[in-house]
Amino acid sequence: MENCKQLPKHIGIIMDGNGRWAKERGLPRSLGHQEGAKNLKKLLYHMYERGIQYVSLYAFSTENFERNQKEVDFLMDLFVTLFHKELKSLKELGVKVVFSGRKAPLKEKVWNAMMELVDATKEGQKGVLNICLNYGGQYEIVDMVQKIARQVQEKQLKIEEITKEVVEQNLYQQLPPLDFVIRTSGERRTSNFMIYQAAYAEYYFPNIYFPDFQDSDFDEAILDFQNRNRRFGKNEADSRQAE
Ligand code: FPP
Repeated sequence: MENCKQLPKHIGIIMDGNGRWAKERGLPRSLGHQEGAKNLKKLLYHMYERGIQYVSLYAFSTENFERNQKEVDFLMDLFVTLFHKELKSLKELGVKVVFSGRKAPLKEKVWNAMMELVDATKEGQKGVLNICLNYGGQYEIVDMVQKIARQVQEKQLKIEEITKEVVEQNLYQQLPPLDFVIRTSGERRTSNFMIYQAAYAEYYFPNIYFPDFQDSDFDEAILDFQNRNRRFGKNEADSRQAE
């Protein structure tokens, strides 16, 4: 079968291995996160330049709040600093930033920095960056069910009217399905990342810590994606090559 060399429209990145990257160098974990953040900026430019339209990042899970307080505080401060610092460059790049996740228990300074970034980039046309922060895929489903149940209770919706489309309209963000999810560091788990949206995603698990994941590693991942046979549950004859 001829390969149609299509790019994934929506890519998810689970940025894993910052802590191990630092540990292997005898450095504090915080430095691993800082290096990860530096690498992320470079990688984001590369992905949008290559024509990826939607990128979802797993920045901080709801479960990450159970890490020690010092690391949580460091990461929250890093997010605030980065959102302020990168606001201008993301705007210039034309990327519209949205967030997925719960508001509580985020501190006000973090929430405000998130909202400022959303507001400043809302006209972006080149691509969408969905940052999953205080995010859990199971909680997203719980929150969606509650939103829909409330609409039924308030008689805006009948139970028979709850369709796949209604479910999708009540997720945190309205994005196309994930085509491709890359989790760095060699771990082979989905860890509650966009479990609804990733129903038919292809997964890729490079054995590279996130701070070391280069643009060329990303290009290699894309080649791997383009050689996969995506069937979406259909017969071989109907399948699409990484479409
Ligand atoms: C997972 O590595 C990484 C995180 C929990 C934080 C990711 C955050 C960044 C890369 C900073 C920049 C992000 C944004 C969106 C501005 P880990 O700590 O679990 O690594 P380990 O498994 O090796 O311990």
